[in-house]
Amino acid sequence: MKLIEGKPIAEIVYAECLQSFEKLKAAGHLPGLAVVLVGEDPASQAYVGSKERKCQELGMHSVKIEKPADTTQEELHAVIDELNADEAIHGILVQLPLPDHLDEDQVILRIDPAKDVDGLHPVNIGKLAMDDPTGFAPCTPSGCQRMLIESGIETSGKDVVIVGRSLLVGKSLALLMMGKRKGGNATVTVAHSRTKNLAELTRRADILVAAIGIPHFIGKEHVKPGAVVIDVGINRIDDPTAKKGSRLVGDVDFDAVAETCEAITPVPGGVGRMTIAMLMANTIRACELRAGLAD
Ligand code: GUN
Repeated sequence: MKLIEGKPIAEIVYAECLQSFEKLKAAGHLPGLAVVLVGEDPASQAYVGSKERKCQELGMHSVKIEKPADTTQEELHAVIDELNADEAIHGILVQLPLPDHLDEDQVILRIDPAKDVDGLHPVNIGKLAMDDPTGFAPCTPSGCQRMLIESGIETSGKDVVIVGRSLLVGKSLALLMMGKRKGGNATVTVAHSRTKNLAELTRRADILVAAIGIPHFIGKEHVKPGAVVIDVGINRIDDPTAKKGSRLVGDVDFDAVAETCEAITPVPGGVGRMTIAMLMANTIRACELRAGLAD
């Protein structure tokens, strides 16, 4: 069994980012990312903190905007409008989920598609569906695809089953993997909570992706021997033996599945490492596109 770790692959992406970054700087451009956080969800605060740290490490311009949990839709739209107009900002990310009283779709629609480095605006989802490379693909799905590419795992003509149909991961990853670009050309099936005979379906997969947000949901019975397993889940479960009283686990029962699969991504240390790397790559590309320096 081969372990597909996120860190070394994220480092490849960061090395590319630095190269593009130097070229941009030499031409007088500094990529800038704004991250907007509403409320005080600790997991979201941690994600936003690591995004900001990574920007600083790369030398990018970074802005963090924190708004209280009772921020109104209009107030949040005003924040987005200001960032859309800000010349120093090339990428805008609104950390999800938003508090329940806010309409996420309306917030995403408000972001200038050219700054939507999260790839969630309908224009970017549409470009993804059209195989148009001028759009931005969502970061976690692009990270999964990049892990497959860098691990030398062929996707063309392979049966891929994705469990989970969120726009943030499952649905977007399906578009990427059935697309015609590198790491695509797969035969993709998307399974979800209403799917019948799930194990029968997932056992057909050459590449199985778990993105449902249920700890240890995928067991050995779901996996064909020799399959590649990508675990997108990041779930915190109670564990009295752990220092914090809890630990992070994926959607896959790692120990059971590792016995039978060809390759698997760990949690933590797998796909999670890739998301921020792809966000940085998207932000740098947004800056290149605006500067007219994109390949
Ligand atoms: N929350 C968890 N993952 C993500 C992500 O990729 N983008 C945004 N905006 N929010 C998230």
